[in-house]
Amino acid sequence: MSGIELAVTGRMFHAPTPDALGIIDGVITVGADGVILDVVHDASSPMAIELVSRARTVWRMAPHERLLPGLVDTHVHAPQWPQLGTGLDLPLESWLFDHTFPLEARYADVGFARDVWEHMVPTLLGLGTTTAVYYSSIHEDATRLLAERCAVGGQRAFVGRVAMDHPTGTPEWYRDESADVALERSRRSARDVFEIGATAGLVKPILTPRFIPACSDELLVGMGRLADELGCTIQTHCSESDWEHANVRDRFGRSDTEMLDAFGLLRERTVLAHGNLVSTTDAALIRARGAGIAHCPLSNSYFANCVLPLRRLLDAEVRVGLGSDVAGGAWPGLLPQCAHAVTASRMLEDGVDGSIDGDCRGVSGSRIDSVTAFHVATAGGAAMIGLDAGAFIPGRRFDAFAVDTKRSANGMREWDGIDDESRIFEKIVRLTGPEAITSVWVDGRLRAGRAAVV
Ligand code: GUN
Ligand code: FE
Repeated sequence: MSGIELAVTGRMFHAPTPDALGIIDGVITVGADGVILDVVHDASSPMAIELVSRARTVWRMAPHERLLPGLVDTHVHAPQWPQLGTGLDLPLESWLFDHTFPLEARYADVGFARDVWEHMVPTLLGLGTTTAVYYSSIHEDATRLLAERCAVGGQRAFVGRVAMDHPTGTPEWYRDESADVALERSRRSARDVFEIGATAGLVKPILTPRFIPACSDELLVGMGRLADELGCTIQTHCSESDWEHANVRDRFGRSDTEMLDAFGLLRERTVLAHGNLVSTTDAALIRARGAGIAHCPLSNSYFANCVLPLRRLLDAEVRVGLGSDVAGGAWPGLLPQCAHAVTASRMLEDGVDGSIDGDCRGVSGSRIDSVTAFHVATAGGAAMIGLDAGAFIPGRRFDAFAVDTKRSANGMREWDGIDDESRIFEKIVRLTGPEAITSVWVDGRLRAGRAAVV
């Protein structure tokens, strides 16, 4: 009896549920197929020693390293990578037309697309983003190149060509000419990505009607049918800001969630980006359909006009993942988003306007902590998109990253007699810089950094 490709020994954190930090000081074994076989909590136990002795390769983590499940970024606009960190001074609707659509239109140039993907995919992987759910641009070639770059680089990815055809919700120089054209391009593009995934693994297509304001009724209905035809999941934006929410209400007299459902787009594993303004009944519908929300806390601080009630949604058993929303979120990677999700929840809980009496300034019961944020960034996002990853549990894929607390340039250090493991976890979430991420693993294979595997 063999089949153990890799045994990892050391200290590990994970958050399989929203409110409990799992601390493992032991051994994880991984099969040649990248699936976790065993998780043993004591590295010196006879069982652990036996498993390590049977492994083809062994990685003994350094004393100041910790292993964490790979980050699942459930909302990334890949073509917006060159505007990361810039241009967030406008409201969403003007930002889209003045900054974003002109940049996305440039991906007709495949050389430009290749250059951006070459820079972006390794950078995100190096930050511990083992899975990304990508919006591409409207271009099929750029989208195919993105899927290929992820497959070659070893990043798990859902890749979607953006569909958008609305005559007033999009500029005439960056849109699909008609619903039929959009559907045909999306069908071809999804087949391209299917093919890349079938050959190289790791990547899957996802149908991507940008959001209701950018799509005609025909396109929205057609996308639901296409999802049936191809067996694809769907991503779109939902109730992101006052403007977006009102745009859908003015057009249909119903909420974004209700209309996505009416168009056949609210399904098992549909990813709804933002969802800040969903009502309690919307949330119940999202849960009933098995869809989920990609929470993008940093972007929301600029564009949303409010804070997502994350705690309330989790309590209502709505699936939620975390998203960077590159480039509405001006920071790549998800650890800073975890920290910001906590901050935003505290501001929602306490309120923000000091001229209002403290008793009625905020929304009580809104706060989350680092464990909940990290859960959403890993196991929560994985569950939302139907991925067997996000926690160190036998049967799940071994997607992980290691942090060396000694390497951080951000003042992270383990203080003897002061820091226990749960404090070290909090420090990792808040203080890890890219330089402290020592290795990144997807499907049991080292994809970035270094590890002392023997
Ligand atoms: N809604 C439609 N498109 C976009 C986008 O690119 N970014 C954000 N934040 N919201 C959107
Ligand atoms: Fe977005």
